[in-house]
Amino acid sequence: MRHVISPLDFSVEELDKLLDLAAGIEKNPAKYAHACDGKVLATLFYEPSTRTRLSFESAMIHLGGQVLGFSSAASSSAAKGESVSDTIRMISCYADICAMRHPKEGAPTVATAVSSIPVINAGDGGHQHPTQTLTDLMTIRSLKGRLDHLTIGLCGDLKFGRTVHSLINALVRYSGISFVLISPEELRIPDYIREDVLDAKGVSYQEVERLEDVIGGLDLLYMTRVQRERFFNEEDYVRLKDFYILDKKKMSLAGKDMLVLHPLPRVNEISVEVDSDPRAAYFKQVQYGVYVRMALILTLLEVEV
Ligand code: CP
Repeated sequence: MRHVISPLDFSVEELDKLLDLAAGIEKNPAKYAHACDGKVLATLFYEPSTRTRLSFESAMIHLGGQVLGFSSAASSSAAKGESVSDTIRMISCYADICAMRHPKEGAPTVATAVSSIPVINAGDGGHQHPTQTLTDLMTIRSLKGRLDHLTIGLCGDLKFGRTVHSLINALVRYSGISFVLISPEELRIPDYIREDVLDAKGVSYQEVERLEDVIGGLDLLYMTRVQRERFFNEEDYVRLKDFYILDKKKMSLAGKDMLVLHPLPRVNEISVEVDSDPRAAYFKQVQYGVYVRMALILTLLEVEV
């Protein structure tokens, strides 16, 4: 039995295999429609979510399985003080696999210590979001045709944005990747990513503040939301929330093949006028999220089709 806490829980070869499976599901979903008949997925969401929870549920339903779970800590016995460890012991009696989102970094890791079913980290605080990374990798591979030799701009809240931390961890394993880290001073990438991942692996990167200065050299621009829920005070959030707004004018400075990705939800950081631009890939990304989670469930449950 294996759990997924970080994108590094898969080797590059395993990731390639998983993305191949997801691409196969995209081509022929009917072939997998009963692959998980009789299986149950539990979604344990202690923090709000639309895409991650519903795409996991959609994935299991499209595989013929069933789902149960809760969508907030307040509607579970966590509100009465039950620990994550005790909760996961219960869930192991009700389900075959679970996806957990929690505001505290490390909570899904705590669950793995006592779980008798695979635990998938569906986002833990400002730490990691491995299944968003799988979604991002599938989107890039499908639309760019490769995961190597890309110049990738990561823009916005690089301090608290867990999707960015997971994506960097995953992409540094491919050759010819360079990053342009675009953020205000206060929201720069944490040292444990800059020093322990980028510097340690000798990955090319630059840190800048102005998107306009670098957008023309990017193969891909990954926009992120300023993570209001991780700020200690509202004033700082209000000051920084509209630091970047990607609009038609800025898109006119970008290359004709530059893709725009965003894990969503967006607030103001991408103007709706960009949605109709053929380079805007963030809604396609959502669909890839279902295929890749179907592939992940099949892989962790060791279901062969
Ligand atoms: N991308 C993402 O994690 O979205 P949700 O917060 O809606 O799950």
